[in-house]
Amino acid sequence: MSAPQPTREDKFTFGLWTVGWQARDPFGDATREPVDPVETVHRLAGMGAYGVTFHDDDLIPFGSDSSDRDKAIQRFRAALEETGLVVPMVTTNLFTHPVFKEGALTANDRDVRRYAMRKVMRNMDLAAELGAETYVLWGGREGAEVDVAKDLGAALDRYREGIDTLAQYSIDRGYGLRLALEPKPNEPRGDIFLPTIGHALGFISTLEHADMVGLNPEVGHEQMANLNYTHGIAQALWQGKLFHLDLNGQHGPKFDQDLVFGHGDLLSAFATVDLLENGFPSGGPRYEGPRHFDYKPLRTEDMDGVWHSAAANMRTYLLLKERAAAFRADPEVAEALAAARVPELGQPTLAAGETYEDLLADRSAFEDFDVEAAAARGFGAVRLSQLAVEHALGAR
Ligand code: GCO
Ligand code: MN
Ligand code: MN
Repeated sequence: MSAPQPTREDKFTFGLWTVGWQARDPFGDATREPVDPVETVHRLAGMGAYGVTFHDDDLIPFGSDSSDRDKAIQRFRAALEETGLVVPMVTTNLFTHPVFKEGALTANDRDVRRYAMRKVMRNMDLAAELGAETYVLWGGREGAEVDVAKDLGAALDRYREGIDTLAQYSIDRGYGLRLALEPKPNEPRGDIFLPTIGHALGFISTLEHADMVGLNPEVGHEQMANLNYTHGIAQALWQGKLFHLDLNGQHGPKFDQDLVFGHGDLLSAFATVDLLENGFPSGGPRYEGPRHFDYKPLRTEDMDGVWHSAAANMRTYLLLKERAAAFRADPEVAEALAAARVPELGQPTLAAGETYEDLLADRSAFEDFDVEAAAARGFGAVRLSQLAVEHALGAR
């Protein structure tokens, strides 16, 4: 079966650290050589991707002197110009170097916090120069294994201080960068602060610059917490906070697998693509940003397998996009949705101009309401589920 070919219009982006992952894990050494970011740019462009993203250290090895730094940036820029790839998002590595072992923006050691803040600011300068719109903050080391080894209230104060300061920096420098927090429940820390989309949304509401801080939710991270990714991004979108996203795959609550998109819970991926491509059935905000893949090619793969896996993310997304369009266009689905009263949910519970006094006066709403008849109605959700499965399998 021929899969649709990705084009720039699909807005597929990849982190340099994804295809560049050397597959070092806690039990084993690297199974692959490093990949030159310039090669990644050319390969991705050749496959129909739209852009690349990176951590400072993916592009400029930690500890590089300023001439090596300039050289790395210059080579990367030249590759971008040659290929037309863009850099919509940039982020900071605040987790690899041992200095961050106890935290970065929330480290107990104040000197480490100040260093972390400077490391982010320096890379925000580069992000703005490259035209990025979103700056991601994944707090991989912000957390603890030992509850009493942290002042949990102070840690949140420091997290807020850090994010507010960085937001102010973007404003004052005119960078136009919006910050996107990436939740994750655990790994590498035993427990990470802002573990889920919900925690992060609650935290954002306390910020001075709440308007310019949103989320970068990752499929696997919500699923590690046994949560529904599609529901999570739906709420973020509904609250105007879905600034960016990390698509990948995961098999439920276990270590962070970072599988190819769709290679974990495929039906959940179908629902995610349906939401991203078709929006809420009743209308409302749409996600217009990049379709960003944050995955790790399996440790078993050689470089051919790596490039194959990069293409697999895009192919799977596009196949699901076709399948979701077919699902939405199927008259039988429309009929099943109506039978399940899905469109009725888009209708306000009180009529236009109706008050709760009117509701109190409406005997049909309560006194004369046939509770038993309403309780007996079926909704046909299984029929809808089967229609989704059949469309996802290409059987319709
Ligand atoms: C993970 C994380 C990271 C972050 C990335 C951005 O898999 O635990 O997703 O990959 O997204 O480092 O800072
Ligand atoms: Mn992950
Ligand atoms: Mn991620």
